[in-house]
Amino acid sequence: HIRVETSLRFEQNPNPTPATEREALLQNPGFGRVFTDYMVTIRYAEGRGWHDAKIAARGPFQHDPACVVLHYAQEIFEGLKAYRLPDGGATLFRPEANARRFVNSATRLAMAPLPEELFLESVRELVRVERDWIPSADGASLYLRPFMFATEVGLGVRPSSEYLYCVTASPVGAYFKGGASAVTIWVSETYTRAAPGGTGDAKCGGNYAASLAAQAEAIREGCEQVVFLDAVERRWVEELGGMNVFFVFDDGSLQTPPLGGTILPGVTRDSLITLARDLGLTVREEPYAIDQWRADAASGRLTEAFACGTAAVVSPIGQVKGREHSFTIGDGGAGPVASRLKAALLDIQNGRAPDKRGWLDRL
Ligand code: COI
Repeated sequence: HIRVETSLRFEQNPNPTPATEREALLQNPGFGRVFTDYMVTIRYAEGRGWHDAKIAARGPFQHDPACVVLHYAQEIFEGLKAYRLPDGGATLFRPEANARRFVNSATRLAMAPLPEELFLESVRELVRVERDWIPSADGASLYLRPFMFATEVGLGVRPSSEYLYCVTASPVGAYFKGGASAVTIWVSETYTRAAPGGTGDAKCGGNYAASLAAQAEAIREGCEQVVFLDAVERRWVEELGGMNVFFVFDDGSLQTPPLGGTILPGVTRDSLITLARDLGLTVREEPYAIDQWRADAASGRLTEAFACGTAAVVSPIGQVKGREHSFTIGDGGAGPVASRLKAALLDIQNGRAPDKRGWLDRL
């Protein structure tokens, strides 16, 4: 029987997934297709604040057709993972960083900011309740999806006075299917992702909606992900459809586009910058032009490139394609720096390496 010590009210799910079925689902969960038995919900109303916090059976919502999110897209989300530790325990990775970013995203979308403590309590309690859903296979984890949307009814364009915050959990394996050693990316010339002053550094659903046509174009062109250039000069590499990007040079240094309002401040991005510097590598947060990328790949000055994110972890980029571009990076496979950083990150997250920076939140 599950016990919860929290201000979140616990309501037993009358029909939890049988253990044998759960074990079968955990064998090969894919990404974002399998969900656990419970979810967190917390409501907000102006004048009343946050209330009605609970963990209960995961299930559908019912909302009025004029609910604000359905018209004006006032919605934000987060992504973070819980990992199984060698001693059988469970841990979250840097959840404080997600809690802080959730506040920043809410502020940009004129939504009520969820207190960071409440965010942390909600993800920790959901993992405690669902700990049997954390897969133990290498590279697998329990992906948590906190999100919040505007629930007030009305068609006037203004910030909603009511919100619903929710967290669901999904056991996941690798984000990219097929387990290819490197992905191919498509340079979007038609579309951009974010303009200065826009919502590029907020984690809102609208950014991802706006990326879908470009992502679909990438898929049509036989690529796994789209890469966006900046909206002003159409020259500087910003990020991929749903992940940040790093470049590795023949002198052993790394470079990643700087955060300047149009780039999503990834927790994995930040962690890799720190880990690379710990390993003695030089990391620059500086703009990198698409033409330079092509020239450096051709000359061999650029030896690797990789995408990173909570979902993607570290995914090497083997080839870049576009209407005006087509080039291979290194030998087109995974490079040693990406592999080393990925291993260093996963070793900390899975409790195999010392957690020197206090990134693990043991549950
Ligand atoms: C992440 O959690 O890494 C994300 O940004 C969302 C992803 C599924 C693209």
